[in-house]
Amino acid sequence: MDQSRKFIRTFDAFPKIPSSQEVRSSRGSLSSIMTYVFMLFLLWVEIGGYIDGYVDHQFSVDEIVRKDLRINLDMIVAMPCNYIDTNVRDTTDDRFLAAELLNYQGTTWNIPRWFFESDKKTVTPELEEVLGRSVIAEFSQKGVHMDGGQPACRIYGYVPVNKVRGDFHITAKGFGYRDRTITPREALNFTHVITEFSFGEFYPYLDNPLDMTIQTTDQQLQTFQYQLRVVPTLFKKLGLEVDTNQFSTTSTSSSGKYVPGIFFKYDFEPIKLIVEEKRLSFFQFTIRIITIFGGIMVIASWLYKLMDKLILITLGREFLKRGEEKKDGGLLDAVEDFEKI
Ligand SMILES: *[C@@H]1O[C@H](CO)[C@@H](O)[C@H](O)[C@H]1NC(C)=O
Repeated sequence: MDQSRKFIRTFDAFPKIPSSQEVRSSRGSLSSIMTYVFMLFLLWVEIGGYIDGYVDHQFSVDEIVRKDLRINLDMIVAMPCNYIDTNVRDTTDDRFLAAELLNYQGTTWNIPRWFFESDKKTVTPELEEVLGRSVIAEFSQKGVHMDGGQPACRIYGYVPVNKVRGDFHITAKGFGYRDRTITPREALNFTHVITEFSFGEFYPYLDNPLDMTIQTTDQQLQTFQYQLRVVPTLFKKLGLEVDTNQFSTTSTSSSGKYVPGIFFKYDFEPIKLIVEEKRLSFFQFTIRIITIFGGIMVIASWLYKLMDKLILITLGREFLKRGEEKKDGGLLDAVEDFEKI
């Protein structure tokens, strides 16, 4: 007998009686081989899992009250900048003039090409994807207002907000707040395109539910309202952390009933979602493998006994004997027979 086979034989799963007294069956050999193949397969899966780690989702209470959370924004409204007013109101502040930090850039209105090309779907991003796209950016300018007379207005930049329920809104001058300028009614048009709307650090490559969306209206007194529920989310892998805020959104629009404009009403969940890639320690991994293999051996021996019983019951003793062969030989006889063919 060559070395390798001897080696394999020492792995034999089932308790033995001296070979002089046993009658071996090819059925038994086959089930041992299948058990080993199955165990090798599981080992392979487990090692793969050990190397790759696993993604753990956990919720914890969000105890950090960040005062300087930002709304990152980049959108175009089909109205001249000169008539546009942007404000934040929340449960702590009375009113914050977002216009002092946001940039207004007069432009012409056209529906961006991506609108016709992609059908957008938003899914919860995968950990890998988030980390791959976690490039922090910063809007390089603040509060620059240019070409206010152009037919449309690109509004971009960030607004600091408190981490409490609030409302960021874009309205027309003279509608909603008192103003020296009163926007002529025929200039009102809250048709808009959003390319970026996110909370927290600005990761331009992360996709948020409102990014690349468009809303059109042919009503002058149109009110668009977005309800946003923000869940602070921390992605973690190999010491890398990406602190973001995911949100879900529902939108409603109506005309003539409320102050015309675009309203983003946001609220923060008091929980934090932690998406983390974890890894077993080598010790834990070893224990796991031993446990799994032990379990498989026990179950395999049960199954084997059960199979024998079933054959005995259904097909009778004669059939059970048919598989029996030579007296000397081990579990791997079936392989030997195979080789001879
Ligand atoms: C607003 O502008 C868009 C695009 O030019 C146009 O389709 C829409 O009819 C306009 N709405 C109003 C109320 O003028």
